[in-house]
Amino acid sequence: MSIVTLTESELGRLGKVPRLNLVNSLSGYKSANLIATSNSKGQTNLAIFSSVMHLGSDPALLGFILRPTTVARHTYENIKETGDYTINHIHEDMIDSAHQTSARYPADQSEFEATGLTAIPWDGHLAPFVEQSKIQVGLKFEEEHMIRANRTRLIVGRILEMRFPEEIQHPDGTLDLAKAKIVTISGADTYSLPATIRRMPYVRL
Ligand SMILES: Cc1cc2nc3c(=O)[nH]c(=O)nc-3n(C[C@H](O)[C@H](O)[C@H](O)COP(=O)(O)O)c2cc1C
Repeated sequence: MSIVTLTESELGRLGKVPRLNLVNSLSGYKSANLIATSNSKGQTNLAIFSSVMHLGSDPALLGFILRPTTVARHTYENIKETGDYTINHIHEDMIDSAHQTSARYPADQSEFEATGLTAIPWDGHLAPFVEQSKIQVGLKFEEEHMIRANRTRLIVGRILEMRFPEEIQHPDGTLDLAKAKIVTISGADTYSLPATIRRMPYVRL
């Protein structure tokens, strides 16, 4: 097998798309989620994000990375306007409609209508949940941090509520994402269905 070696300057000489595709694969498999929001007038918005990450469990926090605000970013604008949003896991039957939400729809067109996904209300909040998602998480905006190197932002949210089918939870609390057919993303276009191969006990010395 021949090995490809690339330095930073060689990477810089690649075209935009091959560079993006290559670098986007380097972080490994990523989570696949839809972030649902609404503006204060009730206009809903839905977009796919592959950067949702665990930040801590007490308090329970999730983060995601937002691209630079050089163009309109409706998810971000709605989160700043209303203070809440939901993170909804993508399973194998939702890939087509979930991927379609990445298109740059105008602010007055809801991706829910455009893709056929269904918004269901979250009592007491403006942001809806995605009915088709088996795992739904409601969050309150906590803080944001600008990454100075490329003007992306880490958006931090506090989990206020979560919903999932009882049968996908193990007795120790863990959710069985494989059982729920939750997909993972590599690059910006490749969806895979992981198979659990082992569960390992907590390591103590
Ligand atoms: C597979 C995939 C993953 C994406 N992940 C992110 C992400 O983590 N952060 C981000 O800002 N945009 C991400 N995007 C792009 C957004 O989905 C896209 O910019 C969308 O139009 C944002 O919609 P909005 O303006 O309604 O918020 C991703 C797109 C795709 C196809």
